[in-house]
This record gives sequence, structure tokens and C-alpha cells, in this order.
Amino acid sequence: MPAPAVTVDVVQRYDDRSWSDDGPTRGVEKVVEAGRVLAFPNLPFALADSERRFLDPRWADVKAKNVSVRWPSGELRGAVGAADDLQALRAMIVRFAEQSEALALRLFPHYRGHLRRGNTSFRPTDVAGRVRSWRQDDTRLHIDAFPSNPMQGTRLLRVFTNVNPSGEPRRWRVGEPFEAHAKRYLGAIRRPLPGSAWLMATAGITKRRRTEYDHVMLQLHDRAKADAAFQSTSPQAHADFAPGTTWVCFSDQVLHAALGGQHMLEQTFLLDVEHLHRPETSPLRTLERLLQRPLR
Ligand SMILES: [Fe+2]
Repeated sequence: MPAPAVTVDVVQRYDDRSWSDDGPTRGVEKVVEAGRVLAFPNLPFALADSERRFLDPRWADVKAKNVSVRWPSGELRGAVGAADDLQALRAMIVRFAEQSEALALRLFPHYRGHLRRGNTSFRPTDVAGRVRSWRQDDTRLHIDAFPSNPMQGTRLLRVFTNVNPSGEPRRWRVGEPFEAHAKRYLGAIRRPLPGSAWLMATAGITKRRRTEYDHVMLQLHDRAKADAAFQSTSPQAHADFAPGTTWVCFSDQVLHAALGGQHMLEQTFLLDVEHLHRPETSPLRTLERLLQRPLR
């Protein structure tokens, strides 16, 4: 594979050692909204001794992608085991959700009252072991966009933490800024077929209407993953997140790929564009500016 011509500087490191209100970093909305990854190399998610047994793929249902807790119900999904074990596993994941929320609200006080808790997931399986189609292959650079779950412009803010017990980093690649990425493919993207969004929502293919924003984001996701030259030669950098590291980014904006690693927790937060510190930095407003029309 030819080496990429340009590397990018996407990761911003902070020395915080606490999840709660007493940590030093706060008010960094501008940093995350600029498309950077905020990394906290000294912010581990502490497991109780009795929780270390959960660092094993046997707890994950082979049919499910992840073990997760869904909100607002708080229901555990995708896990297999005895009832008391699953209760303890759920408690661990819920604690991560609460600590992530405290961290996010300290880092981004502007989002208070507007940040909605999405799924909390626990991923005890090895990234490298997953056999998938090119479209589902997350070892290729992509922005997050989901065929069945249209976001309609709502942002995806994610908090990740590596809980690997044997020193193995979560290995990512990160890529070019969102606007440069959009410009790379936007000229080739056609408008959705009239009636197709209604049809997909009515048939239950999508959870809600796939807006033109969702259509463009899915096209960017798919075109990037299918483009071998882009994958190997576009501006990019490797980013390793060692065990004990927590990192935060808007995954609908940051080009990312997960190359390897095992045992991670991830919390998704949803945030409407108008509640960003600078809404014009969002993928929705960026695409609307480039296309010179609203994407509804
Ligand atoms: Fe992703």
C-alpha cells in the first residue's frame, strides 16, 4: 500500500485524572466541534475485582454486535449468562454511562440540558476477529452514519474507554477534516429518488424518515469505505489509545477507523445541531453551505 502523503493532527491530549466535576478540563466545546479527538491517557474506567471476569467475549451473544444498555429503559441487550451475572454486568455498564455523562457535562457545559443519552456499549470481542462486508468494515476510514437509523442532523458525541487487561491499545486511524472529505465526494452524489424516504420509513427499513442529510452522510460513509485509493493515500494518522485511556469525539464528523483492540466501553450522546456552541461547524450546516440548500 502506498504511504499517505499527508498526516493529520487530530488528537488533543489532556491530563485529567477524574471523571467528575473536580477535573481540570472544562469548556472545550470549540475543540471537539472543530473535529478533534480529545484523549485522556490517565483517565481509566476502574473495574472492581469481581468485574474483571466480564473482560471475556463469552458474555457477548454471538448474534449481537455488542453488549449494550439501551436508554431510557436501561435494558441490557446482547449479553448471555445467568441472571445474577447479567445484573452485575449491567451495573458495570450503567456506571460507565453515569461517569461518561459527568465527564461530558464538565467538558461541554454548553450542552447541559440538551445532551441525550444514547446506547452504552461494552465490546469484549476483538476488532480484528470480525468478518464483515466492506460496508460494515470499520477498519476502513469512515464517518458514522447508519442505514436503518437516520439522525436527521442530530450529532453523535461518543465517549470511549479502553479497559483491556493485557496492555493492548485500541488502534485507530484518523483522517482528513470533514469539509475536505465532503468536497471529495459531494460532486458525485445524486439526490435521493423521490418517495424513497417515505417508502423506507413505511416499510420499517428505517426507524424514521431518511432525510437528504442522512442520504448524503450514508453516501460519504459508503464511498469512503469503497475507495481503496482514498483509504491508503488520503491524509491520515495512526492513533493508539492505551488501556486506561478515555477519548471523546463527534464520530459523525471525525474520519476514523478501528484497526485493532479488545475490551472497550462506549457511550453515545445525541445532541441537536442548534445546541452546539457553534452550529455552523456541524456536518449538517457544512453540507448545506457547500450545496447551498437545506438538507431536509
Ligand atoms: Fe465508526
